[in-house]
Amino acid sequence: MKEKLEQIRSLALKYMDDISNLKELDDLRIKFLGKKGELTKVLRDMGKLSPEERPVMGKLANNIRSEIEEEINSTKEQMQTKLKERKLKEEKIDITISSKSQNIGHRHPLLSTIKELEDLFISMGFTIVNGPEIETVENNFEALNFPSNHPSRDLSDTFYVNDDLLLRTHTSPVQIRAMKEMGAPLRMISAGRTFRFDDVDDTHSPMFHQLEGLVVDENITMANLIHTLDIFIKELFGEDMKTRYRPHHFPFTEPSAEVDVSCIACHGEGCPACNYIGWSMELLGCGMVHPNVLENCGIDSEKYTGFAFGMGVDRIAMVKYGIDNIRLLFENDNRFLEQF
Ligand code: PHE
Repeated sequence: MKEKLEQIRSLALKYMDDISNLKELDDLRIKFLGKKGELTKVLRDMGKLSPEERPVMGKLANNIRSEIEEEINSTKEQMQTKLKERKLKEEKIDITISSKSQNIGHRHPLLSTIKELEDLFISMGFTIVNGPEIETVENNFEALNFPSNHPSRDLSDTFYVNDDLLLRTHTSPVQIRAMKEMGAPLRMISAGRTFRFDDVDDTHSPMFHQLEGLVVDENITMANLIHTLDIFIKELFGEDMKTRYRPHHFPFTEPSAEVDVSCIACHGEGCPACNYIGWSMELLGCGMVHPNVLENCGIDSEKYTGFAFGMGVDRIAMVKYGIDNIRLLFENDNRFLEQF
């Protein structure tokens, strides 16, 4: 019997080494210590032992039971701690993990300038109107009172698609569209791409941007034009900025003027940027809408008058951001664009 008991002990301890989960451990307990387990089976034969041997075997059996029980309990404890540790590890949230960064980008300096100009004119009650970049010769030249021999119409100045269509050379055809569609009174601006057959240099590009404004109503005079542009320039560049109107010629306005503005760098003091003259030259073109243009769009030129103005947005963006080469605006080099 002693041998049998010893065998139970070594077997139980041996199996214990291979246990990998709590269920197996419980099965092992039942197999060796349970009511119908190995130990009980052996103890059933106690009756066959002599009275002297009985207590000895009884004690041995009890020792073996507690030894196995202890072993089971400590294995159980180890397993439970391991399980707990694993669970904690698995459930740990790493709050240091870096979020996937997204490159959102931002507005191009040209678009920012257009938006700023638009906001200013919207605050003065102007409506934004858009027009196509491919225009009719009629809207781009004819209706704007360009004589048929005007040099701008030349093939060497304008990109023609065919005899009737071209890439608009200015945003003024949008005036025509607006007047034809909406009639008078009217207060609109329009910004966008324009195209001319220019060689690329620091200040010229065959593709550039304009912003155009038009007001048509009763009793509109040159005073309204000058006041509107003065306010606009002061809002855009600063209260101390001055404007200067020089007579000029445009086919679609009469009288016409070119507008100089105090040098944006020195505000009129004189500096290298303005060659010490204190003025930024030709920032805008403007004038009173030619009666022919109004009539071409079906507006009664006896009843209505109007003023119009146009400006190069690229030029304004360059002055505003201190950019000295127009090419930088169109090369889409991120190292440049990221600075704005
Ligand atoms: N369209 C003219 C240009 O491209 C600018 C302008 C607009 C002048 C409106 C007067 C009035 O030069």
